[in-house]
Amino acid sequence: MLILGIETSCDETAAAVVEDGVKCLGSSLATSRELHEKTGGVIPEIAARKQVESIVPVIEDCLEKAGVSLEDIDKLAVTVGPGLIGSLVVGVAAAKSLALATGKPLIPVNHLVGHIYGSWVDAEVLPELPAVVLIVSGGHTDLVLMKNHGDLEYLGGTLDDAAGEAFDKTARLLGIKKYLGGAELSEVASECKVNDLAGKLPRPKINDEDFDFSFSGLKTAVKRLAEESDEDVSCMAREFEDAAVEVLVKKTIRASEQYGVRSILLGGGVAANKELRESLQKESSAGGFALHVPPIHLCTDNAIYIASAAFFNQVEKSLEEIAADPSLGIMD
Ligand code: KG4
Ligand code: ZN
Repeated sequence: MLILGIETSCDETAAAVVEDGVKCLGSSLATSRELHEKTGGVIPEIAARKQVESIVPVIEDCLEKAGVSLEDIDKLAVTVGPGLIGSLVVGVAAAKSLALATGKPLIPVNHLVGHIYGSWVDAEVLPELPAVVLIVSGGHTDLVLMKNHGDLEYLGGTLDDAAGEAFDKTARLLGIKKYLGGAELSEVASECKVNDLAGKLPRPKINDEDFDFSFSGLKTAVKRLAEESDEDVSCMAREFEDAAVEVLVKKTIRASEQYGVRSILLGGGVAANKELRESLQKESSAGGFALHVPPIHLCTDNAIYIASAAFFNQVEKSLEEIAADPSLGIMD
């Protein structure tokens, strides 16, 4: 079965053709990130305008790369949220138009469920369920128990800043100017030779029984540390990264033990973080869990995992529903 997936939840316009949920035949992606770098943050209106410009060329390009035509596609899929509303409606309008014009069914996909399926596409080994999933992105930090496809239980999440947001804000207060400085902070941290600050920052909620996280206090503690200490920026970055990663890993492993799963899945932009990947791999191996981490291009936003998620969660909208519901559920 060929599914054409469309993703436009933020500043990326993406389309992909995926076969049977596991094999990517072709994918295309345009981003307006360069424009947001100039302003230091995403301006929703600008992101939405770029979505309008890019959506048709991106869909055409992905079909060409996959070597298929629209007639070959069995079903359509589109991200319906969460995300920036002005961006989301562009993808939803495009997907609805294609569904109405071709008569093909349309599957609405939740963006966060999409992130989970980065571990299914072109993977050497497919994850065994049940699994505990850690989704860490710029907007979300969630621990989810995945009992089966379509059977997810929310275990906990951030009470304030998302993990990626904490990385980005900490990068800024350490003087790292780059927009979305999370990855850059990690680069800077790798330059710290001897970390004299080890253990100086709190590990928020690390021993709490719940599966929630809190990163805003950690960010404030870095600010204080930066004011009080004359240590290298690289070691402050190292200590922040260590603290954040330690909490994420410890709570993920504890959830996996408590719920008796064999597999752990990682997803979201912060899953690109080397420390997090390595530390979670080490602790997963020690605990006897199989860890599944997507390649970097399937950690950040794309349409490949949207098409895959649609295959494994085929709750279709009929043509009547598509015609009648202008939002397809994005306003829920
Ligand atoms: O999933 P994503 O691409 O977009 C959202 O849906 O939010 O995640 C982007 C987030 C940003 O906060 C970015 O700084 C962070 O992921 N990020 C990283 C790294 N690469 C991306 N954070 C820490 N270390 C990295 N290597
Ligand atoms: Zn995302």
